[in-house]
Amino acid sequence: MSRPRILIARRLFPEVEQRLARHFDVQTNPDDVAWNPQELARQLADKDGALTTGGQRIDAALLAACPRLKVVANMAVGYNNFDVDAMNAAGVQGTNTPDVLTETTADFGFALMMAAARRMTESEHFLRAGRWQRWSYDMFAGGEVHGSTLAILGMGRIGQGIARRGAHGFGMRVIYHNRSRLAPQAEAECKAQYVGMDELLAQADHLVLVLPYTSATHHIVGAAQLARMKPTATLTNIGRGGLVDEAALAAALQTGRLAAAGLDVFEGEPVVNPALLACTNVVLTPHIASATVPTRLAMANLAADNLIAFFDGRGPLTPVNQ
Ligand code: DGY
Repeated sequence: MSRPRILIARRLFPEVEQRLARHFDVQTNPDDVAWNPQELARQLADKDGALTTGGQRIDAALLAACPRLKVVANMAVGYNNFDVDAMNAAGVQGTNTPDVLTETTADFGFALMMAAARRMTESEHFLRAGRWQRWSYDMFAGGEVHGSTLAILGMGRIGQGIARRGAHGFGMRVIYHNRSRLAPQAEAECKAQYVGMDELLAQADHLVLVLPYTSATHHIVGAAQLARMKPTATLTNIGRGGLVDEAALAAALQTGRLAAAGLDVFEGEPVVNPALLACTNVVLTPHIASATVPTRLAMANLAADNLIAFFDGRGPLTPVNQ
């Protein structure tokens, strides 16, 4: 019997590619090209499954060109690159990689928030540029982190991880807003208080976005929301770029309407809005919140496990649809 044909859409850990090759006829992408949608559809046209990384859109147009495709394993917890309705209509299983990245991503979200609040990259650029001449009482004086109010929008596993760090490690008051309220025990573990969106914005010293990106959350933070925040506040986004109206954020940062921001995700990745690049009070990182070697390896292996379990007939381990 012929083995399922699998496309690994971006270069991966060699041991994971080799592991998949023991189960499937594997096509890899050794040059790590980020294929455009037409080329991705061409590469997938004769495949039964795919391992994607979040940058590859799986939609009705692609599915129409890939009649053999049965499963797509995303190496990411977010799966906004999947058109889930189109995948359901085509009978294509999607999977993601939850849990294995929770603590690593929460570490990074917290670090990015701290870096923005304490002006770490802005002051480093100043030092590297040879501009540090003398001590000054207000040189790069930022906002307080310990004891301040941490506001989390999106209280899933990663949001709760950030909340625990803030509450237990830094004595922060934690407030959150989410589609649904957490169970009392989970709220107690995070020492987190549920509030409405307006209260979240108004009380935040540090607002962190960790929610999934959907049509309902597109630009959930725009000019109107930024106007409700304290001018001393910071905004950190480790969800998806489209959660924030970047032009409005850049304007708020430039005019002092908001003190600082930390962004790991961008609407036009890997292109970054020039208005944001022009702001000194924003820490910018290239979508690396889950990027530690052990976590990326665990994500790759979980995506591989999903493909292996699916074709073994055991059913996917972490499905997102069907
Ligand atoms: C995720 O897992 O969704 C991260 O953003 C990495 O893509």
